[in-house]
Amino acid sequence: MKALVLSGGAGTRLRPITHTRAKQLVPVANKPVLFYGLEAIASAGIKQVGVIVGDTAAEIQAAVGDGSSFGLEVTYIRQEAPLGLAHCVLIARDYLGDDDFVMYLGDNLLQQDLASFVARFEARRARATAPRLGEELPLMPSAQILLKQVEDPQRFGVAELDPSGRVTRLVEKPTVPPSDLALVGVYLFDPHIHEAVASIAPSARGELEVTDAIQWLIDHGQVVHSEVLDGWWIDMGKLTPLLEANRLLLEGIERRVDGELDAESRLEGRVVVEAGARLVRSVVRGPAVIGTGTELVDSFVGPFSAIGPGCLISHSEIEHSVVMGSSRVVHAGRIEDSLLGYDVEVTRSARRPRATRLMVGDHCLVDLS
Ligand code: G1P
Repeated sequence: MKALVLSGGAGTRLRPITHTRAKQLVPVANKPVLFYGLEAIASAGIKQVGVIVGDTAAEIQAAVGDGSSFGLEVTYIRQEAPLGLAHCVLIARDYLGDDDFVMYLGDNLLQQDLASFVARFEARRARATAPRLGEELPLMPSAQILLKQVEDPQRFGVAELDPSGRVTRLVEKPTVPPSDLALVGVYLFDPHIHEAVASIAPSARGELEVTDAIQWLIDHGQVVHSEVLDGWWIDMGKLTPLLEANRLLLEGIERRVDGELDAESRLEGRVVVEAGARLVRSVVRGPAVIGTGTELVDSFVGPFSAIGPGCLISHSEIEHSVVMGSSRVVHAGRIEDSLLGYDVEVTRSARRPRATRLMVGDHCLVDLS
């Protein structure tokens, strides 16, 4: 079993952050989202990983390297233009050979462990060649998909199941969804998928959709097995899900204090203070993480906040937010539900006239109190 991790794409829904950065490297709970997927793949016992990269190739390669820090052997496969998820399978044909593989979208985060999902696929395939005593020969699944009930199925690929739970139809971003079961961005395939991706035509948005390729498998008599995910799943495409992912991951942290705090500072609950971080007359209420070298002065960091490395937060309050790193937030009042990139400055000066002075780039969002 190999893995194919999709880490190209333009990330338009996370602008302006993605003007300068790959969306798969946006940190949640102070770790790039892509790393969670790579760790899940490694703990499922998979070693060989093909990573599809696009315009942000250099940045992804600098962050992931040869994969050895994850216990993986990574091969990069360049996609010249974002032509769809099925197009990624098409260009990875030689790399994948005749192996089964898990396809993992680099901006998806899920709670369920990948190992058991893979193990169930392999067990089903094994039973199709060697059934249990007295059992009829089960059909061999050539793909296994994960589904999750969502409130806004129009944003995703959607599955229709028959009463026995078999997948009968899959549609990409339907205006009238046949169910509320969205396709999660983690798929298992055997080599039949290669014929499927080579046979389908681009969708209305001009992409080769993996959803259509799976539908092609069904139409050509292949068995597609589905499972409904119990734990949470986040497709990190936009700000609200990103903050939600940050919240869910911070829920799971344990208290660890490697940095320093003065006598007038206080940590409440599960807080991680990384080495080199310093708190001066400040309070951090967990769950929260404070990155390496970050300084908090006369400030409050509230629950569900991830403050990246090298920041200065002074005379300010931040809650339910992600501050990616190397930023200065000084006399800024109270900030909530926010995402700050790198090298951002939010300050209040005593200059007259008193006014809000902005220098914000394209696609930014400023919501004044
Ligand atoms: C893609 C797939 C969609 C799936 C989703 C999961 O959507 O096309 O079927 O439900 O990922 O994250 P996209 O992110 O390309 O809009």
